[in-house]
Amino acid sequence: MTEKILILDFGSQVTQLIGRRVRELNVYCEIHPFNKMPEIGPEVRGVILSGSPASVRDAAAPQIDLAGIKGRLPLLGICYGAQYLAYKYGGAVENSGSREYGRARLHIAQGASPLFAGVKDNSQVWMSHGDTITALPEGAEVIGSTADVANAAYRFKGEQTYVVQFHPEVFHSEEGPRILENFVKGICGCKGDWTPENFIGSTVASLRQTIGGDHVILGLSGGVDSTVAAVLLHKAIGAQLHCIFVDNGLLRKNEFSDVLESYKDMGLNVTGVDAGGRFLKALEGLSEPEAKRKAIGKAFIEVFDAEAQKVTNARYLAQGTIYPDVIESCSVNGPSAKIKSHHNVGGLPEKMNLKIVEPLRSLFKDEVRRVGRALGIKDELVGRHPFPGPSLAIRILGEVTAEKLEILRNADDIFIRSLRACSCDLPSASEPSRRAGNLYDAIWQAGVILLPVRSVGVMGDERTYEYTVALRAVVSTDGMTADWFPLPYDFMAKVSNDIINKVRGVNRVCYDISSKPPATIEWE
Ligand code: XMP
Repeated sequence: MTEKILILDFGSQVTQLIGRRVRELNVYCEIHPFNKMPEIGPEVRGVILSGSPASVRDAAAPQIDLAGIKGRLPLLGICYGAQYLAYKYGGAVENSGSREYGRARLHIAQGASPLFAGVKDNSQVWMSHGDTITALPEGAEVIGSTADVANAAYRFKGEQTYVVQFHPEVFHSEEGPRILENFVKGICGCKGDWTPENFIGSTVASLRQTIGGDHVILGLSGGVDSTVAAVLLHKAIGAQLHCIFVDNGLLRKNEFSDVLESYKDMGLNVTGVDAGGRFLKALEGLSEPEAKRKAIGKAFIEVFDAEAQKVTNARYLAQGTIYPDVIESCSVNGPSAKIKSHHNVGGLPEKMNLKIVEPLRSLFKDEVRRVGRALGIKDELVGRHPFPGPSLAIRILGEVTAEKLEILRNADDIFIRSLRACSCDLPSASEPSRRAGNLYDAIWQAGVILLPVRSVGVMGDERTYEYTVALRAVVSTDGMTADWFPLPYDFMAKVSNDIINKVRGVNRVCYDISSKPPATIEWE
């Protein structure tokens, strides 16, 4: 039985981070909305209550029945969770007048509790709250305070219930990792045996059991998630797995052939479908971003479905869904507002009438990569930047034509190869605990965008009137927010020079210095 920490989400922006921090301790955890609490089985070793934008004093504030948890299992309340425990059990929470937001220093009370074992005094913690706990419940004692917040941390005597007003899960709380480790390992007693190897062992066994002798179809995209899902399934059911890799004609330079080759090397049974002409035809005359996305989604479903029909005995469709998608689709706030139609293959399962299997649905992106490495998948595939389903079509602003695709592919190829070739010593964007070694790995996602703008230039003695491209390189943890990456000037100078000299049709290169929000990563 896998030991588990249960995280109950009250809607904070950073609840996912609590999950990530617990997983970094090699402890399995699940995040559930507070109003959809799962049954508490014997594998649950402790419970964490998240923060929330709500105030406990509002009539509509999130409420939860903790009868089966508080005093029975270790419990940690964070921010709103802290205030909720105070308010609900007889303490007082009042509006603090102004929001307390940002850095503070945590003073640990004498004879502090196991939550603060080994935590240095006066370390920086991150606060973000409008209410303050002004009186503790009976039987509670303060274990930490800051200059502005007397009850910054407290515990309920005689039980394993701890409370922190600050956010130990965010990077700015210096001793946050130790505090969470003290809770998860020290107080809850978790061993920390949730490793990629264990995940692989138990997932392979359960896939075998679920699928039995049936056949499974999986759409490969060259991306990390579908590749890792395929290799796991292949380990579990071998030749019963049928992978389909559609060339939509909108991929990067040589991508289809290179990736197909790598898949064959890994022993996967992959059918490559060359459907470029069909997608280009579907895009003809379309320049509006959503119309382009929809046309691509529709063409994909048709091509994939036609190919899948050839596998006559398939009962399952495998998907590379990962944990942030799962949390997002059942979050307290509901699925987030639709900015772009991302899930362009959404209609596929209904149309195909197959059962769904999602072997990665409990993993964060960095865990998918760790599992991929443990499965022996090459770094080139495991460390790839995310790439959108509609591919280069949404990086050519306006109508997509074969000529523009050729220009973009060539410019993109120069940029990406240059990023790989430029050494650096920075943390890896996809796994901050590793060093990157080159700019490509230090960046979360990069690409070139072809703008629908032509401008005048001069080459040799000749006037030119050609396109402009924009380079985009961002750091992010999950694509939900992103910062533009500070590329070195000499690097940009060289790439710009290379693109303008080598790519016919481009005479100007810009660098996109917009963060998300308010911009998005892709331009369409
Ligand atoms: P945006 O542009 O919304 O993108 O900031 C966030 C992340 O999602 C990727 N993206 C997509 N992925 N199908 C996908 O599979 C799509 O339609 C799609 N649109 C954007 C984008 O590349 C970035 O990683």
